[in-house]
Amino acid sequence: MRVGDDAAWEAMWAPYDNETYARTLGFVPRGATVLDIGAGDLRLSRRLAEQARRVYAIERRPELLPATPLPPNLIVICADARTLPFPARIDTAVLLMRHCRHFALYRTKLEAAGCTRLITNARFGMDVECIDLSARPRPYDELAMGWYACRCGATGFVAGPPERLTSSTLEHITEVENCPECKHYGRISHRIA
Ligand SMILES: C[S@@+](CC[C@H](N)C(=O)[O-])C[C@H]1O[C@@H](n2cnc3c(N)ncnc32)[C@H](O)[C@@H]1O
Repeated sequence: MRVGDDAAWEAMWAPYDNETYARTLGFVPRGATVLDIGAGDLRLSRRLAEQARRVYAIERRPELLPATPLPPNLIVICADARTLPFPARIDTAVLLMRHCRHFALYRTKLEAAGCTRLITNARFGMDVECIDLSARPRPYDELAMGWYACRCGATGFVAGPPERLTSSTLEHITEVENCPECKHYGRISHRIA
């Protein structure tokens, strides 16, 4: 799915539409401590700060960061999120980056920091999902048939006999680990770490 993407896409800044932001904000509990990875010009970070206790916004391109005053609970860090140690006590992360090539790395770092909720469009592109990082994914090999989303960032469908296809097979997405693409995405993700 993302094998042919160029690193330049990942470095690009582009804001998302209001629907994407509304869906993202809908997943953030009031009082959360949020890490916004790739915060761009902080337009979403500011909205996150209205409902969160504290927001850490990481953006590596200094020219995008506005010089205007910030709310006191919004802490901006101009750094590379791949190498920056993540702050302790974050419970929610936001990763709006459709061309992200380092999903597995970010997920591993978030889990190590004790973060339990990842709100992202990095796996499904247009759709924003909320991943429970405290739930252990199933081994890919146990999935007989159906859609999967892997902890490495890959998504796909395991084919099976057509007679076993039901509407729930088509609607459900199973969280897995060790999918066939793990090797590829793991290599990209950990090259820079
Ligand atoms: C598609 S934009 C989204 C910006 C913002 N989240 C929004 O919705 O308005 C992705 C942003 O991630 C930043 N970014 C990409 N890789 C990064 C990294 N390793 N560390 C920090 N920021 C990064 C880019 O510079 C860009 O501003």
